[in-house]
Amino acid sequence: MKSLTNYCKTGLKSRTCAVIGSQWGDEGKGKLTDILAEKYDVCARFNGGDNAGHTIVVGKKKFAFHLLPSGILNPKCLNVIGNGVVVNLKSLRKELKSLEDGGIDYNGRLIISNRAHLTLQVHIEADIEQEAASKEKMIGTTKKGIGPCYSTKARRTGLRVCDLFYWESFVEKYNTLIKSFNKNPSQYNEELETLKEITEFLKNHNMVRDTVTLINEAYHHHKRILAEGANATLLDIDFGTYPYVTSSSTSVGGVMTGLGLPPKKLETIVGISKAYTTRVGAGPFPTECVGEDQEVGDDIGARGFEFGVTTGRKRRVGWFDANVLRYSNMINDFSSINLTKLDILSPLKQIKIGIGYKYPNGRKYEGFPASLDELATLTTEYEVLPGWESDISSINEYDKLPANCKAYVERIEELIGIPISWIGTGPERSSTIMKPLH
Ligand code: GDP
Ligand code: IMO
Ligand code: MG
Repeated sequence: MKSLTNYCKTGLKSRTCAVIGSQWGDEGKGKLTDILAEKYDVCARFNGGDNAGHTIVVGKKKFAFHLLPSGILNPKCLNVIGNGVVVNLKSLRKELKSLEDGGIDYNGRLIISNRAHLTLQVHIEADIEQEAASKEKMIGTTKKGIGPCYSTKARRTGLRVCDLFYWESFVEKYNTLIKSFNKNPSQYNEELETLKEITEFLKNHNMVRDTVTLINEAYHHHKRILAEGANATLLDIDFGTYPYVTSSSTSVGGVMTGLGLPPKKLETIVGISKAYTTRVGAGPFPTECVGEDQEVGDDIGARGFEFGVTTGRKRRVGWFDANVLRYSNMINDFSSINLTKLDILSPLKQIKIGIGYKYPNGRKYEGFPASLDELATLTTEYEVLPGWESDISSINEYDKLPANCKAYVERIEELIGIPISWIGTGPERSSTIMKPLH
């Protein structure tokens, strides 16, 4: 029998749990959120916008959610888009239409925060223009207007969901915002029309609420709350590889600021990490498979189908970086880790693990450098482990995994100092092994 404490570490029995990306995104947050949502009353996105792409595979069906919380497929789960999210309503409406087309009833199960900021056409245009002007220094954003939207939020000129319900003053604020980007409001009438229509839709479906109150009341009524992170810790505006980051708080602090759930109420934080690493967009990537590892990296990428869910871009591939996980854990204090896509490494003869960074004089570097110039002076130390060279996709018990596979998992645990509670062996819900916690 496992103790309740251990179950809490997995998120299965916790009252509140956050699912957080520990690397550069696309770790498989959507898959675990969907699995856990079966046990939770509320599933809430707390950051980011439609830059996120969360995949859920149910049988032969594949869902890709951008703004919708990954609990939406669970009929008993109330899904919340929190105040920390930036919402492109056109994009949300499109996602809802595809649910309707798939016969999934979301009525009464999706609530959007009245404090969430709106991502508008002018933000998307600014994102595209900024990227084009940056030339070779471009961040490689998803071009969804995320940076400009969080910028207007910080500049206090942004528009929020609650503003839509006071249409005349909304139009005034909207026009002021357009002008602040040196654009002519008369060219944005079409967007205003669409927003008006969507506002009616939101009213008719009673979809907008004060979600701070909703979440806290749910907590006080002993409901279980699951917070779903978008993007990931190394893309965090404060902790990531700045400026090659997104513009929101993607790590655990974002749960508090993006939902209004007080810190003492968060019980479990599950970190999601691929068994290797990927990154989409520009920016440093210490364990990237380049040079003599390029071929094996391409092979992992092809087998893991490493293409962005939102932009279709090819993801860069690298080895597991224990230093990234240790840094990520410093910030998030993970209860346990969900190690995903272990099956993708199955055919490899040898697998490298980045165990830490070193200064040019050989001294170990602790933490993660703020300066990318400093990061460029560091080298990564590797350890090479033998592969298991056999298919693990139909194994559903930890002890039945090949010895070399368990050795790889346990070496990772040792290097990062966090227990691994879940192991992903395929995209489907059922392709998940629970590793016993001791
Ligand atoms: P997210 O953004 O963190 O939710 O992750 P994405 O959905 O962008 O990318 C993860 C991809 O890996 C998706 O295509 C998932 O279906 C898939 N996936 C998740 N876990 C596993 C796993 O354990 N094995 C395999 N083969 N695929 C997985
Ligand atoms: P999920 O939730 C991977 C990356 C972009 C770019 C940088 C800034 O699916 O893990 P932005 O459009 O946010 O201004 O882009 O951040 N990025 C992601 N990479 N997964 C994501 O989300 C990402 N969200 C943003 O590629 O490098
Ligand atoms: Mg993704």
